[in-house]
Amino acid sequence: MSTSEPFDAVDVIRTKRDQGRLSDEQIDWVIDAYTRGAVADEQMSALAMAILLNGMERSEIARWTAAMIASGERMDFSSLSRPTVDKHSTGGVGDKITLPLAPLVAACGLAVPQLSGRGLGHTGGTLDKLESIPGWRAALSNEEMLAQLEDVGAVICQAGSGLAPADRKLYALRDVTGTVEAIPLIASSIMSKKIAEGTSALVLDVKVGSGAFMKDLDRARELAQTMVALGTDAGVRTTALLTDMSTPLGLTAGNALEVRESVEVLAGGGPADVVELTVALAREMLDAARHPGTAGIDPADLLADGRAMDVWKRMIRAQGGDPDATLPTAAHTETVRAEADGVLTELDALAVGVAAWRLGAGRARKEDVVQAGAGVELHAKPGATVRTGDVLMTLHTDTPDRFARAKDALAGAVRIDPVAASARTSTMVFERIAAD
Ligand code: URA
Repeated sequence: MSTSEPFDAVDVIRTKRDQGRLSDEQIDWVIDAYTRGAVADEQMSALAMAILLNGMERSEIARWTAAMIASGERMDFSSLSRPTVDKHSTGGVGDKITLPLAPLVAACGLAVPQLSGRGLGHTGGTLDKLESIPGWRAALSNEEMLAQLEDVGAVICQAGSGLAPADRKLYALRDVTGTVEAIPLIASSIMSKKIAEGTSALVLDVKVGSGAFMKDLDRARELAQTMVALGTDAGVRTTALLTDMSTPLGLTAGNALEVRESVEVLAGGGPADVVELTVALAREMLDAARHPGTAGIDPADLLADGRAMDVWKRMIRAQGGDPDATLPTAAHTETVRAEADGVLTELDALAVGVAAWRLGAGRARKEDVVQAGAGVELHAKPGATVRTGDVLMTLHTDTPDRFARAKDALAGAVRIDPVAASARTSTMVFERIAAD
């Protein structure tokens, strides 16, 4: 340790290792010192593991989040003529909801700044999906973003590197040290970026199930409650929906495949679960924004009558894309067929996500290039009656040597029962979490 540092990283680690509470000063220092390189990666890894094992009090998480926000810039949307509202999903398979949702909520009269990411592992990234549209660009300056928000009402773009740089460094470290799953660290990571972004209202879509970070409802509820409290305390009106991620959302997982499905939803069609969740989140966003101008508006109407589609086209054009261009398709396809007669009762989200990833839709390392046309197309969802030999999925890739490993990932993913007794009948939304 340099003699000019006010704390010793080892003392901070010992405090948490021994189940103590970190002081505000310790937290401010350790985040700042880690960002500037005065706390080493191995020390921060040990601290992250101690946090994963021993947890943090609410007030510690709030201070940790504030310290991460203070590591970078804060954006300011106060000059806009309409209020801002954002949505964040904790990530899942086939989760293309941002694509129809942002233009839909903008069509209702709000400004939607969606700072999005790229996919890593089995969950897809919104930017990767949109980059399958010819000409579309993800990187915008803050000025371009503000101008588009004022003019079109919706922007989906890459988060600038100035936002919560401490999180960028810490997230990369957690990824390789088995510490991603700590609720205090997930909550502070997500909320530091959302609060720094400066939105006035936020709706969280916390996914539950095999394809999500949170596999069970209790942990998802705890994560949602922690994030809602952080947002509310920071002056951002925040609510959360706990939603189903046991099976993929919609009928596609893969970049261009998901854009195509999103456009179907914007055209008033598309799979029922995608429409249901898009409308549920849009209603929550209108509610959270509390803007008198949106009173009495039902987002379902704007999806059905094409007004959301008009905003989508303007949003894509504003970022250099051609919304009418033909989307890329993969060079090769193979099918997966039903092996029994009966009712499809399970179609595992994680297995489909891993298969899409192995087909080339996702990346294993940050620098990997994704295939625009790769992915999995589903022809049946849980609840459907199928017959032996029916096509259940079409696998798409440019590199056919990937088919075998994708099929390995799908082994055991499908369950067909003779009767419909256990067929899934639930709706997408399990629970709503608001501030206490
Ligand atoms: N997404 C984030 O931004 N951070 C996490 O820790 C997990 C998901």
